[in-house]
Parts: sequence; structure tokens; C-alpha cells
Amino acid sequence: MSAPPKNSDSAGVGAPTRARIAERTLRTDRWWLAPLLTVLGLSVFVVYASVRSWVRTAYFVEEYHYLTPFYSPCLSDSCVPGSSDFGTPIGELPMIIPLGFLVLPFLLGFRLTCYYYRKAYYRSVWFSPPACAVAEPHGKYTGETRLPLIVQNAHRYFFYVALVVSLINTYDAIRAFHGADGGFGIGLGTLVMVGNVILLWAYTVSCHSCRHVTGGRLTHFSRHPIRYRLWTGVSKLNTRHMQLAWTTLATLIVTDFYVMLVASGTISDLRLIN
Ligand code: FES
Repeated sequence: MSAPPKNSDSAGVGAPTRARIAERTLRTDRWWLAPLLTVLGLSVFVVYASVRSWVRTAYFVEEYHYLTPFYSPCLSDSCVPGSSDFGTPIGELPMIIPLGFLVLPFLLGFRLTCYYYRKAYYRSVWFSPPACAVAEPHGKYTGETRLPLIVQNAHRYFFYVALVVSLINTYDAIRAFHGADGGFGIGLGTLVMVGNVILLWAYTVSCHSCRHVTGGRLTHFSRHPIRYRLWTGVSKLNTRHMQLAWTTLATLIVTDFYVMLVASGTISDLRLIN
């Protein structure tokens, strides 16, 4: 991966006030490795999630009530029997529309506008800039003040929807404590779903918008001790936001993949209780 061509306009690194450097970058380390790994990781998730969201097979294990997060909530008559705990108000859906279509745009919006992911794909996809001290190829920079990047400012609203989706995923994880006889039961799938939902909550709560919700606009923390404690906790979690962003992409894939294996009969669920 070589450095993208340096723009020669009068803006950005070509501005008259900037140092005149002939090379595209003076960096000699492997600065391209991080953006390359980032774009590979994001591509794997996007391709996997897209394929799984559209195939409509092996997404629900009725016996143990395992529902993959990519199909939750399943609100259509096209959903397999037993997978629609919230009813089927939508009716049949053509194959071109994923069964989880109601939440997918919001989840995608939440992730795409996330402060960490912005940094990741601005560097690895948009090359704006690709790395510190590496000239970007764009002639001008309008920031997040115009379309399409002005949409980034909607992140706080996606955050509220993500809270609702996390509640639904929590409900699914509780429903996964389901035995083959219809009573209480725990299997490896239950633990996978619970682990996934705990990490999803950690990612969601560590959001920068959540920091603002808990402690923003306060001028005297001493007068708001509860909000201060919440803000302190969220801020600590926030320092791990990047790690949580990647971990939850992985746990979403692992959860879906495990449900797919059990639902398709490829493997049997490892049962711990019932
Ligand atoms: Fe990453 Fe909000 S900043 S989810």
C-alpha cells in the first residue's frame, strides 16, 4: 500500500502556509498496516452480515429459543414459527428485504457514525488522511458540515435506538435459558448469547453520546452526585471503546455462526442443564 498522491491544490497540505515537501510522506514505518487491517476487518463483517441477513436460513433454534441478533426482532409472517415473540405486524416480506430490516439500518447507522469507526474508515477507506503525517489525496475538506458527512451529527439519535435494540437482544438472551422440555435450560448457545449481549451493552454504554447524556452540560458535578458517578463509570468504559467496537463485531459473528450451526443441524448444542 503506497501513500496516496498528495493533492496539489492550495488547500490542505498544499496550502501556502504549509512546508513544501516533495515526498508524499516522510514516514518510513509501516504506517499503512493499521488502515489495511482496518479495512479488511470491516469488510469481513460487512460481507458476513450482509450474506447472513439475506439468506433466511438457520437463524432460529426453536428447541432452545436461540435467535440470531441479525434477525431480531423478527416481525414478519415470513419468519419461521416461534421466532416472532413480538408478533408479526409486517406480513410477508419479499426475499430482497432482510427479515431484520427494521433494526439493520439503525444498527448500521449507529456503527457508521460511531466516533471510533469514523476514525477507522476516514483513514482506511476515505484516506482523509490515511495516517498521521501522510498527505491526503482530497483537494478540500468540508468536515461534517455538509452532506453526506453531516449525517454523522445524528449519532446521538442512533444511540437512543441502539439502547432499544440492546434491550431486545437482552430479551433474546433471557429467552435462551430454555430447555428442550420447554422449561429452564442452559446450553453453550445460552452462554454465547449472554456474553454477546453483555459486550453489546458495554459497547453501547461506552458511547461518547452516553458520556454526554450522563454528564453533559453540568457545571457543578458536586450538585449532581448520581450523574457524576454515572459519568465517571461511563468515562472509564469509554477508554475501551475501540476494543469494544471490534470485540462486538466479533461476538456478533460468533453468536450468529453458532446459532447457524445448531439450527442447520451441523452440530448439537452442548447442554449444561436440560
Ligand atoms: Fe462509538 Fe457512540 S461513539 S458508539
